[in-house]
Amino acid sequence: MQFLPIFLDVKSSVCLIVGGGEVALRKARMLAKSGAQLRVVAPRINLSLSQLVDDADCPGEIHEREYLTSDLTDVALVVVATDDTQLNIAISCQAKTQKIPVNVVDNPALCSFVFPSVLDRSPLVVAISSGGTSPVLARHLRARLETLIPSGYGKLAQLLGKFREPVKNRFKTLGQRRSFWEKVISGSVTELVLTGRLAEAEQQLSEWIDGGKVVEQAGEVYLVGGGPGDPDLLTFRALRLMQQADVVLYDRLVSPEVLALVRKDAEQINVGKARDKHTVPQGDINSMLVRLAKEGKKVLRLKGGDPFIFGRGGEELEGLADAGIPFQVVPGITAANGCAAYAGIPLTHRDYAQSVQFVTGHLKNNSIDLHWDELVHENHTVVFYMGLVGLPTICQKLIEHGRDAETPVALVQKGTTDQQKVIVGTLDTIVELVSAEVIRPPTLIIVGGVVNLAGKLSWYGS
Ligand SMILES: C[S@@+](CC[C@H](N)C(=O)[O-])C[C@H]1O[C@@H](n2cnc3c(N)ncnc32)[C@H](O)[C@@H]1O
Repeated sequence: MQFLPIFLDVKSSVCLIVGGGEVALRKARMLAKSGAQLRVVAPRINLSLSQLVDDADCPGEIHEREYLTSDLTDVALVVVATDDTQLNIAISCQAKTQKIPVNVVDNPALCSFVFPSVLDRSPLVVAISSGGTSPVLARHLRARLETLIPSGYGKLAQLLGKFREPVKNRFKTLGQRRSFWEKVISGSVTELVLTGRLAEAEQQLSEWIDGGKVVEQAGEVYLVGGGPGDPDLLTFRALRLMQQADVVLYDRLVSPEVLALVRKDAEQINVGKARDKHTVPQGDINSMLVRLAKEGKKVLRLKGGDPFIFGRGGEELEGLADAGIPFQVVPGITAANGCAAYAGIPLTHRDYAQSVQFVTGHLKNNSIDLHWDELVHENHTVVFYMGLVGLPTICQKLIEHGRDAETPVALVQKGTTDQQKVIVGTLDTIVELVSAEVIRPPTLIIVGGVVNLAGKLSWYGS
């Protein structure tokens, strides 16, 4: 290792920054966050930097003049951010002679310490350094870690810190304490903190410490929206819960690429529903969720799109609520949003639509039960889910109730996936256009003037 990675307490210590520009400002922000008392010296000092010094928890000094050797007096560390090479060398030498840690920005040879790239979940902090070889690579790695470490880990660290002493008193050996903490961190207390239920988490932890062991009451159900197909559209939370589930119940609409991101050793149960072919009846799915959670499992209920939009997520949760099973819900990108975005069709637009409505186009006894009069306003976008079979009825009803036959319509097949296909026509022509193609479900139908933009704003696929 070229540098010793340590975390330095600079609270209320004077830290000197020589330089008054953007780079100096970035370093000053990091020092101010750590509670340092800033002393900034430069002939010209950026306004934001002056404000930072004034507003810092520990107010500092601003000296708008050339650097003086005496600026090093009583200083805990120095950052040099000027473009005067001779001055940089001089300050570096003086600081090293006085054994003051010094960082000269972008010049590792003059530094006795380097700033890492920081992932801040205070009090939890991850610092990454490339030893001055490639700060960009360190930043790149940090950005990747940002997506892996939930934002609530700071709160978790605070809670665990609060109980360190009680745990030390309760468990005599290091091995017992370590085993206890490992169970706590991978258990329900972490989930309670990450879902904002801090009081419950604290209560649970105290009970476990009093009882001398971690006792998980029951499992939990994660109702997660898997989005319309492209796995890049998953949320961070969805991915995290997918990685920790013991068993997954998934629908037909969940894409194989999304399913591939579920924990490898999780049991996978396909409860998918194809049109008119309900593989597992809804009532059975509801009771299966309750049973698996009661067995103490972390159950992932993974649905296509968003679970609360034509997804029956509400019904499944009602069953869980009645049985007293804990659950959490992770929204997903619904097909309307995903398909519209990937087809270049903004669902609202100042020139074409001031409102949008999501409706089901599902046929029941050869008809669709909708308030058609509400769907025919000119500046209104209507998105039909499950509308492929009923497409002729949809077009006919909209025209009958007053929508112009020339109104643009788009049919999006398998939106956001590499099999996405967009067919554009009008209420008058779309049925014929679609019948001339081989169409694979799922498909979504978008009706309204916004569809006019599909050609101009197309960006995804070929
Ligand atoms: C039972 S609904 C479920 C909707 C889902 N909960 C959501 O929020 O997208 C199924 C319908 O969603 C639409 N759909 C879902 N994913 C789609 C996709 N990738 N492309 C086009 N339509 C999709 C189709 O209309 C399909 O018939």
